[in-house]
Amino acid sequence: MKAAFDIGIESLTRAGETVASSPFVSDTHEAVTSEATAAGAGKSFYIETFGCQMNVHDSEKVAGFLLERGYRAARDAADADLMLYNTCSIREKAAQKVFSRLGEWRGAGKGSQVARTASLGERTKIIGVLGCLAQQEGEEIFERAPWVSLVCGSASYRKLPDLVAELEAGGRRVMGLDLDTDQTFETEVTRRDNPIRAYITIIEGCDYACSYCVVPHTRGPERSRASESVLAEARRLAEAGYTEIQLLGQTVNSYRDPSPGGLSFVDLLRGVAAVDGIRRVRFTTSHPNDFHREIVEAIDSTPELCDHIHLPVQSGSTRVLREMRRTYTRDQYLEKISWIRAARRPISITSDIIVGFPGETEREFEDTVTLLDEVGYDGVFSFIYSPRPITTAASLPDAIPEAEKSRRLAILQERQRQIQMARNAQVVGESFEVLVDGHNAARGQWAGRTTSNRLINFTSAAENLLGEYVQVLVTRASPYSLVGQHVAPV
Ligand code: 5AD
Ligand code: SF4
Repeated sequence: MKAAFDIGIESLTRAGETVASSPFVSDTHEAVTSEATAAGAGKSFYIETFGCQMNVHDSEKVAGFLLERGYRAARDAADADLMLYNTCSIREKAAQKVFSRLGEWRGAGKGSQVARTASLGERTKIIGVLGCLAQQEGEEIFERAPWVSLVCGSASYRKLPDLVAELEAGGRRVMGLDLDTDQTFETEVTRRDNPIRAYITIIEGCDYACSYCVVPHTRGPERSRASESVLAEARRLAEAGYTEIQLLGQTVNSYRDPSPGGLSFVDLLRGVAAVDGIRRVRFTTSHPNDFHREIVEAIDSTPELCDHIHLPVQSGSTRVLREMRRTYTRDQYLEKISWIRAARRPISITSDIIVGFPGETEREFEDTVTLLDEVGYDGVFSFIYSPRPITTAASLPDAIPEAEKSRRLAILQERQRQIQMARNAQVVGESFEVLVDGHNAARGQWAGRTTSNRLINFTSAAENLLGEYVQVLVTRASPYSLVGQHVAPV
């Protein structure tokens, strides 16, 4: 499925990001103890990550924990002693992909009876499954892939040290599947894979109960992190040289500070924005029900808060929204959009949409297409409805045939493509501040993002711009990105 706007944050469709082999910086705030270093000494790990930005960041934390324990990052999966899959189960396809990956190690894992591989000689590989599929399938994973020896859902990551220690001591199968937690996953060391943008999880789990969604079952109840801990991490990141921070949560704006300070979400946004050295603060994903005017006011009055809000609508039909248990109507959603449009600076708006929810009529689907025009989204991640285990929608009647779902998706994406083309064409001739995060030597182009998260590829006479903020004049537009040239600051 195609993401209509490469915002790189809700990249649930782009499964299979591999983080272990990319260059990284370690964000260590306490000395690594020699005792910890001894435990995994000499062993290597590799993590392959599927799914959302929350998973990508969880993998950074798991990698940090393993490095602290004395493991080293393997160059590729074949060489690793510990191979971890951090998985996604939001749609059927994502789950299937993990099982097909696991199939590649048949017979290679420590959990298997015939655990020997040619490349590792007498050593055996430990294969672990983390994340949402681990939580959803639990012991089933051992049944389907007996060579797996670690299964751990994200709500149990606090137990990872014990689970890994058990494996190191010769344990064959270990499992962490408790959902009943009020704890968040914090680490002493986080291995940061993105040298430009740093992530901080501020809230984990989800207390909503959207009828199509497995997340409340796989990530557990909502838990917010203490504001002092978030602010301390933001300060450490700024000291390490980061200028952009993205605050993460499945419903990020439901944040409720559990500590005596009792900061609201907006207080926290302002607090992170005020950290010395931080120039850009983003946050995702916002739930419309917890989206209040104060968020727009904070963006208006705080230059560091980026001009972008990801506000998934899921459907433009109030009846379908009710069936989805989204807790708002089309009109209530549009009212929130009107607050954003009334802001003093233009704020880009992106969304997630599901087509082909059970019982969705042609008329109701058209309500979603007209909503695209009414809002004027700068990007939409659109998905075909996929029935998920445990969810209430899975047992709803009137499933839409696959071919019809695909037809609706194509119509929706084409309409959104036109909207983006028109919106992007409007900014040709304007210049924007861009944080440079990529370079394509073959094409002689740099790449970066505006505060509104638009992707710009541009040319420059400068030598090295990575991590720099530069002014770029937009010369050409396409639906998914802009083309421009580096100009002197105005
Ligand atoms: N089928 C299709 N898309 C889904 N999403 C969540 N659950 C499902 C499902 N069962 C989409 C929603 C959500 C995004 C992260 O994934 O649009 O916002
Ligand atoms: Fe899933 Fe709804 Fe929670 Fe988002 S708000 S994670 S869609 S249950």
